[in-house]
Amino acid sequence: MHIEDTEEANSRPNSIDARDKAYVVHGLTNLRDHLERGPLVIESGQGVWVRDQAGRDYLEGMSGLWCISLGYGEKRLIEACRRQMETLAYYHLTNHRSHVPGIDLAEKLIEIAPVPMSHVWFANSGSEANDCAARLCWYYWNAKEQPARRKFIAHRRAYHGNTIASASLSGVGYAHEQFGLPLPGFLHVECPDFYAAGLPGESEEEFSDRLLETLERLIESEGADSIAGFFTEPIMAAGGVVIPPRRYLDGLQRLLREHDILLVADEVVTAFGRTGEMFGTTTMGLVPDMIVCAKGITSAYFPLSAVLINDRVFQAMVQQSERLPLFGLTMTYSGHPVGAAIAREAIRIYEDDGIVQRARRMEHVLLGGLTERIGASPIVGQIRGRGLLAGVQLVADPLNRRFFDPALRVGPRVAEAAEKHGLFVRAIGDVIAICPPLSITEDELHMLTDRLARAVADVEAELR
Ligand SMILES: Cc1ncc(COP(=O)(O)O)c(C=O)c1O
Repeated sequence: MHIEDTEEANSRPNSIDARDKAYVVHGLTNLRDHLERGPLVIESGQGVWVRDQAGRDYLEGMSGLWCISLGYGEKRLIEACRRQMETLAYYHLTNHRSHVPGIDLAEKLIEIAPVPMSHVWFANSGSEANDCAARLCWYYWNAKEQPARRKFIAHRRAYHGNTIASASLSGVGYAHEQFGLPLPGFLHVECPDFYAAGLPGESEEEFSDRLLETLERLIESEGADSIAGFFTEPIMAAGGVVIPPRRYLDGLQRLLREHDILLVADEVVTAFGRTGEMFGTTTMGLVPDMIVCAKGITSAYFPLSAVLINDRVFQAMVQQSERLPLFGLTMTYSGHPVGAAIAREAIRIYEDDGIVQRARRMEHVLLGGLTERIGASPIVGQIRGRGLLAGVQLVADPLNRRFFDPALRVGPRVAEAAEKHGLFVRAIGDVIAICPPLSITEDELHMLTDRLARAVADVEAELR
């Protein structure tokens, strides 16, 4: 269909556009604007490309929502899905029931876990899995007869999901405002973004130490015996692709150990090769008690998430079963066999095709390409990333690290310009996030940096 035909078709009362506006609620969207401008309807996808209803192609520079790691139309995942649907389309893992896809996947996750882990709890989304991890922290401390340990700490700007506990863990206003969140006892500390939050003249070491001192004071003032756990991503994705300084993460873990606070690594974005290692935990030297995975676990072909639990926590859960008849956590679709079969096949592909090593090699193509094409732009302050996860911080003055007035919407304007050039990226304030499928070729990565460079140049010209 031609673009003009689509526009004509969209103006009809029963058009896709009109029906979307009439019936669908969209997240992270201004709902009033949406009723005016309507949706961009995506119709199909192949490899790293998606096509809209008007036949325009876009390079998917964000893997959808950081998730379709193996790209669209991956035959092995489709076949794994079909096979499992035919064999056993559903079964559950409650009341001693089990199924082979769930067992296979749990065994594999424990085998590839970056630090010793013992058992796997399945859920359906990153939000649910973080919610479950928070509940497991509480369950653990009750088993340890320290029921007062109820509070959680996470970073401002971190995104851990949008169920009630996960939204409370998230450090972003949009998940809280007008929802009456966060829940009491969900505390937030400064985002470890040295570029944005470092004081004038402060070194990265001094910045890390300052954040650690604040955290230590918080733990002391709240009382370590009231804190259940700390949640962090190894590299913060939706917070603006923030790579915490190693000194900060090392010091953080030292403090948590000293105060016996559980560490949960939210690897919803970073697991399965994204940062050039199978797990971001390895990239950033973490030793968590639980690891939360979702998104890339099935390459987004099925909603499935997992919480990897270490033996310390698992033994406490078992101990609880000496006083309670049941472990009371359950969800109908937890460990769905179709999702489990797809996830197991996705991990096979990550291994067979050397996807993780590839992401590590391609880091230079992505970051090198970005540096070459936009590194000297007067509105680019920093280009950062690991593996195939990158962030471009846009600023008014790179030399003096001066940020744009948010009212100028510079980040969103760059993302909108990129869309006109056939590239999807995401603006997180004035950070442009880039997270392409790990299966992207070198030529496609060059195309990505080229299209982004054109978008940056467009906005640079508008601002001049
Ligand atoms: C780090 C992180 N944790 C958790 C979530 C929530 O996952 P879901 O949207 O699958 O609930 C996200 C989603 O973007 C995420 O980026």
